[in-house]
Amino acid sequence: MIRLNQLVKRYGRFTAVDGIDLAVPSGELFGFLGPNGAGKTTTFRMIAGILRPTSGTIEIGGIDINRRPLEAKARLGFIPDRPFVYDKLTGAEFLRFAAALYGQQGPLVERRIDELLELFELTRWKNELTESYSHGMRQKLIISGALVHRPEVIVVDEPMIGLDPRSARLLKDLFRQFVDRGGTVLMSTHTLEVAETMCDRIAIVNGGKIVASGTMSEIQEQTSSEHLGLEDLFLKLTGGMRDHQLDAILGA
Ligand SMILES: Nc1ncnc2c1ncn2[C@@H]1O[C@H](COP(=O)(O)OP(=O)(O)OP(=O)(O)O)[C@@H](O)[C@H]1O
Ligand SMILES: [Mg+2]
Repeated sequence: MIRLNQLVKRYGRFTAVDGIDLAVPSGELFGFLGPNGAGKTTTFRMIAGILRPTSGTIEIGGIDINRRPLEAKARLGFIPDRPFVYDKLTGAEFLRFAAALYGQQGPLVERRIDELLELFELTRWKNELTESYSHGMRQKLIISGALVHRPEVIVVDEPMIGLDPRSARLLKDLFRQFVDRGGTVLMSTHTLEVAETMCDRIAIVNGGKIVASGTMSEIQEQTSSEHLGLEDLFLKLTGGMRDHQLDAILGA
């Protein structure tokens, strides 16, 4: 459902994404892990069509986003890491706007909007301006906006940040059911517990490259680290800890 072929993004001489190959089939929840600056958000923004790749190709459901961008984007719901909503729109107006971007409007859309607001416990704030929403409420509105046109693929950058435990659980259940019904989710997260409990497969990215991918046990095998948990595996694959520097800063 999502296929990346030798995807590269350069900013001047700096290579942020350095030849990423990835295939996520439908029915799978895939986790994209990596340290700050590894290239996760850059990769996701290219998939969402916000950034143009330097080279390489991206397919959503077999459709090349460069050749048929509208068709590819219609299948995709993108949830960015920094929730942006228009302050002077109400929750309902924002969702109507999001649906209209995909050419959808009318009674079916209105019903869908009501269902999404209900699911995320925003019904009471349906007609309030989003400037009065809390951070988590905005995040939930953005998530609703990415679902309103019934995408087949969800690409989501750090979804759990700022969500209360109840909403985080709701999102976990939502993504699981979404993939169980044939959807595809590509998700970045720094919360290794989230990755371990939610994801069918993961990739660990470092310096713009995938350094390991597969199921947890496949990665353990690939790296001859059968005894390591995800945290230690992550640290091993992305440069380890720097105890001597801590010593230098905190020591007498
Ligand atoms: N517009 C830009 N111009 C120049 N460099 C950029 C730009 N956007 C991102 N970068 C660089 O690309 C690299 C990858 O950034 P990216 O945001 O993709 O990382 P990330 O994996 O999402 O990190 P984080 O976990 O902190 O969100 C970083 O070194 C960053 O400085
Ligand atoms: Mg990021």
